[in-house]
Amino acid sequence: MRMVDIIAKKRNGNTLNEEEIKYFINGYVDGSIPDYQVSALLMSIFYNGMNNSEVSNLTKFMVESGDVINLDQIKGFKVDKHSTGGVGDKTSLIIGPLVAAAGVPIAKMSGRGLGHTGGTLDKLESIKNFKIELTSEQFINNVNKHKIAIIGQTANLVPADKKLYSLRDVTATVDSIPLIASSIMSKKIASGADAIVLDVKVGSGAFMKTIDEARKLAETMVQIGKSLNRKTVAILTNMDEPLGKEIGNANEIHEVIQVLKNNGPHDLTEISITIAAQMTVLANVYDDIEIAKIELRKLLSNGKAFEKLVEFVMAQGGDTSVIHDPNLLPKAKVHSDIKADQDGFVSKIDALSIGISAMLLGAGRKTKDEVIDHSVGITLHKKVGDKVNQGEVIATIHCNNSNIDESTDLIHKAYLISNEAIKSSKLIYDVIQ
Ligand code: URA
Repeated sequence: MRMVDIIAKKRNGNTLNEEEIKYFINGYVDGSIPDYQVSALLMSIFYNGMNNSEVSNLTKFMVESGDVINLDQIKGFKVDKHSTGGVGDKTSLIIGPLVAAAGVPIAKMSGRGLGHTGGTLDKLESIKNFKIELTSEQFINNVNKHKIAIIGQTANLVPADKKLYSLRDVTATVDSIPLIASSIMSKKIASGADAIVLDVKVGSGAFMKTIDEARKLAETMVQIGKSLNRKTVAILTNMDEPLGKEIGNANEIHEVIQVLKNNGPHDLTEISITIAAQMTVLANVYDDIEIAKIELRKLLSNGKAFEKLVEFVMAQGGDTSVIHDPNLLPKAKVHSDIKADQDGFVSKIDALSIGISAMLLGAGRKTKDEVIDHSVGITLHKKVGDKVNQGEVIATIHCNNSNIDESTDLIHKAYLISNEAIKSSKLIYDVIQ
């Protein structure tokens, strides 16, 4: 077999067979196929797409390129969740304790990642002494005992994705549905869960800007999951404005605590319950989604989900006094209010601008070596649909003096205030299964 023939086949719009996909993935990972040939193939895939069997084979050989986590020692049906990412998205930290309180084992390996705020691990590290490194044995024991553990990834999961993602980044081939779907699903499948719920974000602050694009990505990922024997459900959720009111690492932990105390913002609570409901139904804890939602709301109102958060933080060495009193979370030195410049109604908050603003303050990282400041962030006092008066505070920046002017300007521009009252947008667009 020759790589040049595989490239030509895909360039001409034909379908690659299992052997050809295996040859290209294995050759790329072992170094026998060079970047320039893989670049050409990626561009051919970008233009010509892949059919269901190609994208499933691609995912399968990507999974097999590295370690695959074995969670067999964990009792029960393991369900994982994944979000395609958005501004203010702290749902994993709400859903983890909530679903664990319902009895579903959550064995999650998370990343730090690049982005507007830190990843799940960075947020957890806002809690004093929280340990994200556990041995495999501790990890398994914690999940069996407490139903939840969240740790950093140590295994060599999907090396093919690491190489391919870096190459896609510099060859303008990131935005390709088969390449995104195989990248996400290979990592989820290698992480060992029996079933996967995908939160596919749609809107200005998301990877997928339109519902049609998001639906196509969701359908492709669900199809991959099924063909590789993982029950998979995808939910299309709104990311036109940031999720919840807090952006930044410690800020977001504070908001997680509020939701788990049944006192959180409506959008964040509803999206978390919707994803958690799908997870509990996949795990056969509840018979249907509506019953699941009722039972999960009870776990928020009777304190069980909050108690599970405390138990989880304690099991990983974190200081639980922070959970009981979020004022003990890291605090920025400066708090600067942003005020409305006219009367009216908030008709848009551009999520991407808010995200960039948070990153400029130091809440996120552009390169993997940057250090995060857990204490900085943004609080949005007004959300889409809210009435505002001129001079009223719409947002507050929490910072330690870096880039405050630029961040303020971005937040001002992100808010669109109009004379007409507008309906808040739909939170959940669709469920694909
Ligand atoms: N996230 C991933 O993990 N991979 C992609 O290709 C895009 C987003």
